[in-house]
Amino acid sequence: MADFDTVIHGGTLVTAGETFKADIGICGGTIAAICDRIVGGEHRIDAGGKLVLPGGIEGHCHIAQESSSGVMTSDDYYSGSVSAAFGGNSCFIPFAAQHRGQAISEVIATYDSRAIPNAVIDYSYHLIISDPSPSVLAELPGVFERGITSFKVFMTYDLMNIGDGGMLDILALAKTYGALTMVHAENNEMVKWMNRRFAAAGLTEPRYHALSRPELAEEEAINRAISLAKLVDTPLFIVHVSTRGGAEIVRREKLAGTRLFAETCPQYLALTRADLDRSGMEGAKYVCSPPLRDRETQEALWQHIRTGTFESVSSDHAPYRADATGKFSNGVDVPYAKIANGMPGIAMRLPYLFSEGVAKGRITLGDFVRLSSANAARVFGLDRKGSLMPGFDADIAIWNPEERRKVTLADQHDNMDYTPFEGMEFTGWPELVMNRGRIVVEKGALKAARGQGQFVARKPTDTGTMPGYRAVEFVVAAAYGHEVAP
Ligand code: URP
Ligand code: ZN
Ligand code: ZN
Repeated sequence: MADFDTVIHGGTLVTAGETFKADIGICGGTIAAICDRIVGGEHRIDAGGKLVLPGGIEGHCHIAQESSSGVMTSDDYYSGSVSAAFGGNSCFIPFAAQHRGQAISEVIATYDSRAIPNAVIDYSYHLIISDPSPSVLAELPGVFERGITSFKVFMTYDLMNIGDGGMLDILALAKTYGALTMVHAENNEMVKWMNRRFAAAGLTEPRYHALSRPELAEEEAINRAISLAKLVDTPLFIVHVSTRGGAEIVRREKLAGTRLFAETCPQYLALTRADLDRSGMEGAKYVCSPPLRDRETQEALWQHIRTGTFESVSSDHAPYRADATGKFSNGVDVPYAKIANGMPGIAMRLPYLFSEGVAKGRITLGDFVRLSSANAARVFGLDRKGSLMPGFDADIAIWNPEERRKVTLADQHDNMDYTPFEGMEFTGWPELVMNRGRIVVEKGALKAARGQGQFVARKPTDTGTMPGYRAVEFVVAAAYGHEVAP
C-alpha cells in the first residue's frame, strides 16, 4: 500500500516566510510530509520548474447574492467557485447578505441552499448585516458559534447603510464574541449630495459615477469607521480601499497599534476612471463602488502593498452582466446611479497580482503568498489553510511562473459577458489547483464535481500583538459607572 495518496515532487515550495525545494506528501486531504525527496505515493505530480504555493483564499466576492435593489449576481456557487479555482484559489468567502426585515437564520439557510450543492472549493461566508434590530443582534452569537466569525456592514447605499449607531451596536457585539467587523467605508451623504448636483446639471453618463463618489467620501468614512471601532476597541477590516488618503489613514492607525486590517483590489491598480469614458454604455462595465481612480493612486496603492498596509488583495468579484439581468436591470441608457455596481475578477486577481507584482519585481513571492492566502487565513480564522505545513489542508496551487497569456473572455469560466481585464497580458499562471488533496483544476480542465467543496467553520481573528485602543469613556460605560483608574 502506498504511504501517500499523492506526492507533489520536484517543485519549489513558497510560503509567506520561505522559498525552498521540497516534495509534499498528502494523505486523506491533509499535508502529511514535506521533505527533500519523497518516494512512492499512489499519484505522483511532477512540479519540476514550477512553484508550489498555498491555494489562494478569496476573501471578498459576491456570489449568488442579490444586491440591495434585488439584482442577482450572474455567478452562482458553481460558476463562481469554478472561476475562482481556475484563478488559483482553493477556498473563498462570499457574503451571506441580510436584506432588511430578514431573520439571520433565513439568510444562512438561503446561502446554504445555494452553496452546499454547488461549490467546487471550500467556502465560508461573511455575514452582511443591513438591519441591526434587537432580534437580529440576538441571532449573531449563534452565527458566530457556527464558525461565521466576520460580520460586514455598509456606511453607504441607502438600503444597506446602518448608520454610526448601528455600527457601534455591531462592533460592541463583535467585541463580546471575538468576531471581526468588515466595513464598506464611503460617506453616504456626500455621495447623495454629489448625485443630486450631477442629476440637476444633467450629468448622468457613467463617467460621472466616479466623480460622484469623491476620494474624500472614502477617507472620511474610513476615519469615522476606525474611530467607532477604537471607541469599542475591537478589530476592524476596511474592505476595498481605493484611495491614497484612505491607505494613509490605515497605515497611520496600524503604526499606532489600532487593531486594523485592510485590503485593496486589482481594479484599483489596473484601471482608472478613464475606463468609464468608453463610448455608449461600455463605460457601465466599469461602474463599481468605491469607483476607479487615477494613475497616481495606482502607484500609491502599489507602494502601500509593498510596505505592508494591506493584508490582502481581494477581487471584490461582483459580477453583473452588461444586459438586462445585470448592469441594465433598470434599462439601457439609464443615468449612472441606476447602473448595477460591481465588476467581475475572481479568476484574474492572482494572475494579475503575480504578473504585475512578482514578475515585475514590485513584490516578492513571499508577499504574494501573504497577500493571496496566508493573511486571509490568519485574519479570517482559517487555521488549517494559507500555508504549506504538515497538518494543514492540502490546498495547493502549482504555478508556472514563465507562462505568458493574453486575457480573453473566451478563456473565462464565470458566467459573465465581459472581463475588465480583456487584452491584458500576464506572466505566471496557475496550472493545477487542489483542495483538500483533490485536484480541482489541472492544465485548463475542471476535475472537480459540483458540491465537493466544504463549508469551513472559522476561528476568531488572530490579532497577534496589536495593542488596540483603550477609550476610557467606553470602559466606564461598559462597567456602568464603576470607578476606572485614570
Ligand atoms: O461595486 C461593488 N463593489 N459592488 C459590490 C458591492 C460592494 O460594495 O462591495
Ligand atoms: Zn463594498
Ligand atoms: Zn464587495
